[in-house]
Amino acid sequence: MKIDVVRDPSSAYQPRLEDSIAVVIDVLRAASTICTALANGCREIIPVAEVADAYDAAAIYPRPLVLFAGERHGRQIDGFDLGNSPKEFQPDVVAGKIIILTTTNGTRALLWAQGAQRTLVLSFLNLHSVISFLRTVDQDVVIICAGQDGEESLEDTVCAGLLVERLQELLKDKVQLTEQARGAAAVARDHKIDLLAMMIASPHGEHLQKIGYADDLEICSRLNSLDVLPVYVDGAIRLAPR
Ligand code: MLT
Repeated sequence: MKIDVVRDPSSAYQPRLEDSIAVVIDVLRAASTICTALANGCREIIPVAEVADAYDAAAIYPRPLVLFAGERHGRQIDGFDLGNSPKEFQPDVVAGKIIILTTTNGTRALLWAQGAQRTLVLSFLNLHSVISFLRTVDQDVVIICAGQDGEESLEDTVCAGLLVERLQELLKDKVQLTEQARGAAAVARDHKIDLLAMMIASPHGEHLQKIGYADDLEICSRLNSLDVLPVYVDGAIRLAPR
């Protein structure tokens, strides 16, 4: 298994995805929100790039089934039902619903990863579930960090590095790491002791605190708190069948 890491999808480094499993990370907050929504009974999540795409995607479903969710600059989009804070995606709100989601970086990274054989969604919340799955497959893995407006996001790189480190511990010499994967693992080693402190001090964490979402940092730092494996297939993210 070769493991590669893309620290931000708009960077010049664009590995081939065709024969690989892609793992898309957006710790703050799209991936954490997706994991929470699915754990709380949402039927599926359809990621789209733009607000207009959200209304187009919803047109084929009865309106009561659909929730529009997403953010721009971290804040809920006008006219939408939900923003992008995991704490909004409670069972009484999302159970049985189809969520159309557009976020600044996370949903774009998902759309970018569509060329892979299979695409998974990873946050700190479901790290264990993704590791349990990947250790059973004999396929190359490309980990894609959503980043922030064309820049690397520390929290995404730390999450990628934890996945790299753990797969290497479990699979030993069956794993080959690219330079990018080694780099992410080194970043994770420096920051894994206190994920919340790392996010509080990160640029995106600071922004979320400023606009009133400080609680989300603690929620998104709950390592292995959700046993979910979100898989993005045919335009929708659903729980992998057990
Ligand atoms: C994004 O996709 O850029 C994020 O998930 C932003 C956020 O809501 O914190």
